[in-house]
Amino acid sequence: HMDSMMNDDSMDNEHMDHDEIISLTDSTGENELIIPPVLKSDSQEQTEYTLRAQTGQTEIFDGVQTITYGYNGSFLGPMLQFEKGETVTINLINELDEDTTFHWHGLEVSGNNDGSPHNVLKPGEESTIEFEVTQEAATLWFHPHPKGQTSEQVYNGLAGLIYINDENSKNLGLPNDYGENDIPLIFQDKVFDDEKQLNYDAAANEDGTVGDTSLINGTLNPKLSVDKEKVRLRLLNGSNARNYTFKLNTDDDFVQVATDGGFLNEPVLMKELTLTPSERAEIIIDFSEIDSSEEIALIDEEGSTLLPFEVSNEIGEETNIPAEMNDFSVTEEEKNLPVTKEIELFGMMDMVTINGKKFDPERIDFTQEQGVTEVWEIYNKPDMMGGMIHPFHIHGAQFKIISRNGETPPENEKGWKDSISVAPDETVRIAIQFKDKGIYMFHCHILEHEDNGMMGQIKVE
Ligand code: C2O
Ligand code: CU
Ligand code: CU
Repeated sequence: HMDSMMNDDSMDNEHMDHDEIISLTDSTGENELIIPPVLKSDSQEQTEYTLRAQTGQTEIFDGVQTITYGYNGSFLGPMLQFEKGETVTINLINELDEDTTFHWHGLEVSGNNDGSPHNVLKPGEESTIEFEVTQEAATLWFHPHPKGQTSEQVYNGLAGLIYINDENSKNLGLPNDYGENDIPLIFQDKVFDDEKQLNYDAAANEDGTVGDTSLINGTLNPKLSVDKEKVRLRLLNGSNARNYTFKLNTDDDFVQVATDGGFLNEPVLMKELTLTPSERAEIIIDFSEIDSSEEIALIDEEGSTLLPFEVSNEIGEETNIPAEMNDFSVTEEEKNLPVTKEIELFGMMDMVTINGKKFDPERIDFTQEQGVTEVWEIYNKPDMMGGMIHPFHIHGAQFKIISRNGETPPENEKGWKDSISVAPDETVRIAIQFKDKGIYMFHCHILEHEDNGMMGQIKVE
């Protein structure tokens, strides 16, 4: 068994320089990847789900029970399926001993249904929300968002996936056999103590908890068995703070087909792909010509093995990636709109701010009219030490990247986004429109930065 303990000194460090982030230990590949169960609707006639936030124990390490949090289970959550155009009802139940909320990351819903820090459920409380799914096919996720407690709750295991399907996604012919050739991958890094407990307080770092142990869908040392076919991987960086750069150990290309909020217009050939916390991407790896004796694995930038693949001799489904998948565009009009909102990200550890301020639930930082597109300019102001990447996220809308430092964004970012990485001294312009009304959060998705106040509010009216 792999020993995945950090030494005590590194846990005591109050600040870990982000250039020297602790490496992930290699997956030994001894456990088949866990696939999150698909949540069944409570009713035949309509889509109605019940989600319970709860605590439990999970056998992450053989023969050891680790105390964890989960939705409808002890660790992580089930996968929820929505259909574009349908009305979805979700019953929310807080079975934790602490406040929580249910936030739908990337979903275009009204502020009241968004699960922001204003939508708190106290221990034992329940509520029901109902909304119409108005956006296109995408891979979204859900997680808690209570003020100051988001990082710990997500770290302990509160996170689940949402798949939105629509006519286009069904007609494209991409691999879509859930758990067979359409695989969700929730990447998280953890620090386990001597008793193999998560022990958030000890692990916590003001710049975000970064661990040496990689879990995918909660699986330690995972491997994925695949047939000789194209396999679609839906990647979610569900970590508190770590940035992941994904590659294949063979240095082969893979194809990105979707961003946070929908399909790209065309498949984009990639050698590596970086996702900052909360970003998603769908990629396709072609295993049809891979021999079962070949060692092929998803690795990170440093070469740590994240997910080894075991290719069978079985010929799988024959699928093709269409040349045209979507009709996303940034219009001339949008490009020419004046900047009407400016966001300055600054700081590190607990000294993080947006426009010089920390989050105050009583303060509305901006207003925007429902259905009106505005251009926001997001700038990451460096500090004396250079600064760090802040992944910037806005609730309740999918937006378009107009430019990065004045240049058109890379091909794989020409699609709907709800979270973007902003590097030190970088300026990103986005065009954003809210379909619904309400108060929405915008924040850094390093969860400890969010909890430390790197968050603001926009009121859409
Ligand atoms: Cu993943 Cu405020 O959200
Ligand atoms: Cu969100
Ligand atoms: Cu940050």
